[in-house]
Amino acid sequence: MIRSRIIGFERALPPFTVTNDDLAEIVDTSDEWISSRTGIHKRHLAVDQNTSDLCIIAADKLIKKAGWNPLSVDLIVLGTVSPDYTTPSTACLVQEALGCKNAFCFDLAAACSGFIYSLSVADKFIKAGEVKRAIVLGGETLSKITDWSDRSTCVLFGDGAGGVLLEAAEEGGILFEDIHSDGSRGMALTAGYRANKSPYYKAEPKSSEFIDMNGREVFTFATRKVPESINRVLEQSGMTMDDISYVVLHQANTRINEVIARKLKAPAEKFFSNIDKIGNTSGASVPIALAKMNEEGLLKKGDKILISGFGGGLTWATMLIEL
Ligand code: UT7
Repeated sequence: MIRSRIIGFERALPPFTVTNDDLAEIVDTSDEWISSRTGIHKRHLAVDQNTSDLCIIAADKLIKKAGWNPLSVDLIVLGTVSPDYTTPSTACLVQEALGCKNAFCFDLAAACSGFIYSLSVADKFIKAGEVKRAIVLGGETLSKITDWSDRSTCVLFGDGAGGVLLEAAEEGGILFEDIHSDGSRGMALTAGYRANKSPYYKAEPKSSEFIDMNGREVFTFATRKVPESINRVLEQSGMTMDDISYVVLHQANTRINEVIARKLKAPAEKFFSNIDKIGNTSGASVPIALAKMNEEGLLKKGDKILISGFGGGLTWATMLIEL
């Protein structure tokens, strides 16, 4: 059976950072509230980069370090809810910048599950034998869809991009997955509503262009659905948490990770976290965390790692990968 081997972990963050104290100067909040409720201390925000710029930096590092000829890339999939344009896709902008002229490219909108959904789709193309080499990215500039006067959301999010390469191989890579959506609860987290500005359009806009979230509802959803999803993947694989080196959850809130670890009866040390310095970067958070772990020497060949995303849609997805 063909498998999708994972090669390389890279990330790109805008250099400008904003602390909780900085935010307390623009909205009615405090470092104490933000850090105790979320674990976030600072975040990187774009000042002159768009989503494609960050994705291009991460993708360029990936293919250069792997020594891939750009012409050998067959597919670029990019999970984002903050693309530069509706069209061309951000993946097409990455293709052009890197010279991956033989790749077909598209963006995938699954919010905070976007990177894992993108990995899943690329994996299927590889398993079908249609693709040998793929670049899979998650990238966001959430700062452009954040309401900077809304303290309940503007303190949570950050900008960044990360990704991996996938290559057809005989073993390793993506082993098992569990992937879901529940559109009936989609209004718990909305962003990017586009009002119809046609002179003929009569209805009032239904929503805001900015991120709007019922935080408690999403918190409850995540702490219920993610442990179930992780347990399903463990069951499929016949493994237990003892076989897993690390769990890398979407970095939304330290408290969510703690509740999930408790429900899984797993040691908290297995749950990698970098939310303190990065904030919530939606579809970029899992690949950014993986790249950081790689930089710290935490990822070893043969390790089995669980990755799990959850958020807008609502969507959630867990994957068991072998390095
Ligand atoms: O990435 C997509 C997935 N998203 C998530 O997973 C997010 C899940 N949800 C959460 O992480 C948490 O619900 C939040 C961190 C968003 C909020 O924490 P919470 O403990 O659920 O707070 P809350 O929304 O219930 O608000 C509690 C209080 C409210 O005041 P009152 O009504 O109790 O007087 C808010 O107005 O905290 C107030 N508040 C703030 N106070 C200071 C809300 N935001 C702030 C703030 N600073 N930034």
